[in-house]
Order: sequence, then C-alpha cells, then structure tokens
Amino acid sequence: KISDELQAMLDAHELLRKFYHHLLVNTKEGQHALEYLLGRGFTHESIEKFQIGYSLNSWDFVYKFLTKRDFSPEWMEKAGLIIKREKDGTYFDRFRDRIMFPIFNRNGNTIAFSGRTLGADEPKYLNSPETAIFNKSKILYNYNLAKPSIKKSQQAVLFEGFADVIAADRAGIENGIATMGTSLTDDHIALLRTSAQIITICYDSDKAGIEAAFRAGNHLNDAGFQIKVALMPDGMDPDEYIKKNSPEKFRGEVIGASLTWMAFKILYFRRGKNLQNEGDRLAYIEQIVKEISKLTKAVEKDHYLRQIAAEFSLSLDSLKQQEQQIYFAEK
Ligand code: CTP
Ligand code: MN
Ligand code: MN
Ligand code: MN
Ligand code: MN
Repeated sequence: KISDELQAMLDAHELLRKFYHHLLVNTKEGQHALEYLLGRGFTHESIEKFQIGYSLNSWDFVYKFLTKRDFSPEWMEKAGLIIKREKDGTYFDRFRDRIMFPIFNRNGNTIAFSGRTLGADEPKYLNSPETAIFNKSKILYNYNLAKPSIKKSQQAVLFEGFADVIAADRAGIENGIATMGTSLTDDHIALLRTSAQIITICYDSDKAGIEAAFRAGNHLNDAGFQIKVALMPDGMDPDEYIKKNSPEKFRGEVIGASLTWMAFKILYFRRGKNLQNEGDRLAYIEQIVKEISKLTKAVEKDHYLRQIAAEFSLSLDSLKQQEQQIYFAEK
C-alpha cells in the first residue's frame, strides 16, 4: 500500500488529466487549442487515445480546483502541479495556456504532464519536475500503450518527441516510444530489454537529431540490441514528414527503408567530409575500418571491407591488415 501523500499525487493527476481533456474537447476556452492540434494533423481519435488536454490561461485555476477538493497545497506542490511564491507563500499554477500531454506509467497511472506552448513561448515543452511519482530518466512516453505491440514484434521505434509518437501511431505504428527530452539512460535500456530485441531509431533528421541518433545507437548497440536507423529528407521530423507526405509513405519509405547500424555509421562519418580530398578520405577510411573492427560476424566484416576496397580502389589485403591491427589494439 502506498502512502496517503503518493495516493493524493496520483489522484490529483488523474483528476486533472480528465479535466484538461474535457477543457480541450468540450469547451469554448479550449477551442483555439483544439484548432491548433487539428491544424497540425492530430485527429480526434489520437486526442482521445493519448488523452491530450488543455490547461487554462489562469494563474490559479489548478490551485482552486485542487484545494476545493481538499488536496493539500504542500503535497500538490511536491507533485509539481503548483508552485509556491517565495515572497508571500501563495501558490500559482505551473501549467497555463498549454496543450497538455499526460505522461503515464506502466500501470496507466498519470504521473506527470508535459505542456506545449501554443505560441512561441519558451520553453516549447514544459515538463513536470522530478517528483516522488515521476522520474524522467525511467519513463518512456507511450510505453504503457506500446508494450503489447513491442513484445509481439520484439521491436520498438524510438522517437524524439511526443508529436512524433502520436503521428506515427496515426500512421499505424503502434510500437513507438520517446524519451522526455533527455538522452537514453541505462534505466530506459533496461526497460526496453524486457520487451524488444530490435530498436529502430527514428529521431529528427536535423543535425541535433542525427547526433543524438548516433549516441543512442551506440548505447543500444553496446547493450546488445539490433539497431536500425530511419531517416527523413530535408531535416524533417517524423510528424512533419507524415503531415507533408502520407502514412503509407512514412511506413514504406522511412520505416521500411531503415538503415542497418553500420550503413547509418557509413553515412554519419561521411557527413561534412569531402571524399575527393585526400586527408578527408583517409580519415574517413580509418574511421570506418575502426567501426568494421567492432563487428562480430566475419562475413559482415568481409562485406564492408570489400565495399571500402571497391569504393576507394584499395587492396582488400591492406584493409584487412589494418582492420586486424585496430582490432587487436582496441582489445
Ligand atoms: N523538448 C523539451 N523541451 C523543449 C524542447 C523539446 O522537453 N524546450 C523535448 C520534448 O519532449 C520534445 C523533444 O524534446 O518532444 C523533441 O524536441 P523538438 O524536436 O524540438 O520538438 P517536437 O517534438 O518536434 O515538437 P513540435 O513538433 O511540437 O514542435
Ligand atoms: Mn474524451
Ligand atoms: Mn528535434
Ligand atoms: Mn522534432
Ligand atoms: Mn515536430
């Protein structure tokens, strides 16, 4: 049995999730937020499925809503829902005039919120702070709903943002998850290990997203997962791609055309290099041979070494020799 305080935190989140959702879908106050979402391509169905809501443009709506129902302000502050003013000890609402994404734990309890601004305010996404019921480094967005599909296929698709998970779900990809604006932690990996063997990384195809994909891929690869990387053209993110193109194209030409981890690394190390330039070319070959030396299957090593040999007109023997040198040096 959990403490009264923890129970009150969970109860308050549950009540607010329902009320935020009601405000979004049924009220005049939420109408502009609903129009914003529909304009972005969110459907009524996904608004229901992900229980998306809207927080009023008020400094004390949540405070009044909760205290009227006998929730302790101290506990609600610890739950991250309201904030105490230093100067007079009064409280104000953390989330105001934002699209509200409830964050669920594995049991389907609402344990936090992420609120997206409708305009250009900073931060774009405001998250609940770390609390007794919410630990960002352990939570994967949508894991509660995605778990059966992940287990069944032994695959998960890892996205950067909530909007991407939701757009992909609309496109028929039900095993999508996302971290909450943080990099992938050992706890996330431990959680994924219980249900998947293959992870498709589908981060934004901008510079930040590609760098993050490289880091996440290395982390997952070290943990023994098979990695694929799905990329989109022109620095797009999955949500933008699906809106601009179609669910079918996303499934076929993005997810369906995912690169192997090695193929992604080949692209990654080529970026920003001019392979006509001798220095760049040698640096690139060295990096790739080093990556090849990490492969465990002899046939794969052979395949990629031959590919490099052919591309740069090198002898396979010298490449093999270099691969072995690196292999034993790194051991
Ligand atoms: N993020 C955050 N705080 C920010 C910006 C981003 O926590 N100020 C997190 C969010 O979880 C967000 C993710 O990082 O979903 C990816 O950021 P970004 O690509 O900028 O946002 P999108 O998911 O593309 O959001 P949107 O499409 O709504 O603009
Ligand atoms: Mn509803
Ligand atoms: Mn991004
Ligand atoms: Mn994005
Ligand atoms: Mn986006």
